[in-house]
Amino acid sequence: MLKKQWWHGKAAYQIYPKSFYDTNGDGIGDLRGVIRKLDYLKDLGIDIIWLSPIYCSPLADQGYDISDYQNIDPRFGTMEDMEELLREAKSRDMYIVMDLVVNHCSDEHEWFRKACEDPDGPYGKYFYIEDVKDGKLPNNWRSYFGGPVWDKLPGHEDKYYLHVFHKKQPDLNWENPALRQEVYRMINWWLEKGIAGFRIDAIVNIKKPDIHTCYPADREDGLTSVQNMLHDASGLDDFLHEMKIETFEKHQAFTVGEVFSDREDALNAFIGNDGHFSSMFDFSETMAGKSEDGWYACQTSVWGDTYKKCAFDTQKRLGDIGFISNIIENHDEPRGVSHYLPESCNSESAKKMLAAVNVMLRGLPFIYQGQEIGMTNVSFSSIDEIDDCTTRHEYDQAIARGLSEEEALHVVSHFTRDNARTPFQWNDSPQAGFTTGTPWLKLNPNYTTINAAEQIERPDSLYHWYKDLLSLRKSPVYGETIVYGEFVPYLEEQTNLMAFYRNGESGSLLVVANYQPEPQDVELPDGYRKVLMNNMENFLLEGNTLHMDGFQVVILG
Ligand code: GLC
Ligand code: CA
Repeated sequence: MLKKQWWHGKAAYQIYPKSFYDTNGDGIGDLRGVIRKLDYLKDLGIDIIWLSPIYCSPLADQGYDISDYQNIDPRFGTMEDMEELLREAKSRDMYIVMDLVVNHCSDEHEWFRKACEDPDGPYGKYFYIEDVKDGKLPNNWRSYFGGPVWDKLPGHEDKYYLHVFHKKQPDLNWENPALRQEVYRMINWWLEKGIAGFRIDAIVNIKKPDIHTCYPADREDGLTSVQNMLHDASGLDDFLHEMKIETFEKHQAFTVGEVFSDREDALNAFIGNDGHFSSMFDFSETMAGKSEDGWYACQTSVWGDTYKKCAFDTQKRLGDIGFISNIIENHDEPRGVSHYLPESCNSESAKKMLAAVNVMLRGLPFIYQGQEIGMTNVSFSSIDEIDDCTTRHEYDQAIARGLSEEEALHVVSHFTRDNARTPFQWNDSPQAGFTTGTPWLKLNPNYTTINAAEQIERPDSLYHWYKDLLSLRKSPVYGETIVYGEFVPYLEEQTNLMAFYRNGESGSLLVVANYQPEPQDVELPDGYRKVLMNNMENFLLEGNTLHMDGFQVVILG
């Protein structure tokens, strides 16, 4: 049986602070901007806010490279701003969740500086530092962002340090109990400050197999995917269990893991009743059509039956094991409406369909900033317009695999993380109302038509659709069913029909979505004739046959 928790019935929202709202005209979103927009979020129906990192950072990976875990980067504000945000959130019954990035820190963190000064001293053991023997690197793992995971330790010709992400993100050595204690101390410090919990970054990477293990090369660079080492690593559960006991559990913190894992027992281990975290993201749709060989080989649109299969598989496996967190997009992925709808099919009604099939699944809905107004991917006219540190490597890989420059740009334009990071489109004034200065990253020019102000004014907008979905989720009549009701597929075999029941103790709902541009007929079961939500004007029922428009979705009670 699933143990009920305070956060199950809530709705969550991810803020990428750098691109959310700028209050001092430097072109960079800030904490005061988050405070300013709390009412906007409250109105939408949001309770829990996950803030992407705002700690001190050289921003090599946009804050996921932390140089001081207990201070706020001046570009985002001050500790006083953070404390004010906590107070303001609390006064609105809202909760702040921070990003916990402890697989690695920044190479500008004091720990790493001290490790460079004295690799044999105590801080050397906070990292993976190895001597280079006969000019050979200790292993042949390829970092997620391209190139070997090894780089020369500054000041030491004969030593290398390990980073599975960017070279400015040295991996912390979790085998060292002193490091683990430092991390726990920092986590407790934040929890004592009053944050509700953490989103936990890249966490499966903290456990490595023997650092000298090489695997067969999978590209001409002689390197091998980090996935191989992840498969080989055992003992992750011990670290995570210890972290939970030493920190989260003591504070009843809410935690949501960024867990990419194909372990059979993943759901139970991570989010079962005795799991490591409160929740974890469902990345099954995110992973659909992805390739280990690079973005050039990934599918650029995932929809209809493919999307359905991903979502349903997770829901079926999940049963009563735990509470998953459902997403359409985040700061690492293309905009959902540009990826989960067929190309050039992102009308507002299609966006509403996508919203409904996602939010009505069992689990905690996380909305990523801009998703609620249907922000789309951008079109980039040159690789130099892209800031994201992972994109260049993917571009080069596409060229290496024979794509022309134009084709490679087309591929990376779809997948670059900058799509999710363009400034929030508040209104149609210059710079989309995001800043009075020059935004740090180019705006999507479609802000003149897609923006929050216009949608707040217009009752049939996507913004209001999201608001209605969230308020249905919290309504006294349907809330229990939407939060806890059993997930049961309906007509699962019917092509591009995504339909499911949510069967609760107090009632049952049926979600029916025609996940394709063409119309489709659907036989409805008896009952279920009350239309709670419908993204189209028509409800064409003949006998039991519902004639649905392309991308029509209805929620029936
Ligand atoms: C996670 C973050 C991503 C970051 C990486 C390294 O995947 O979501 O943005 O680049 O970890 O911290
Ligand atoms: Ca600012």
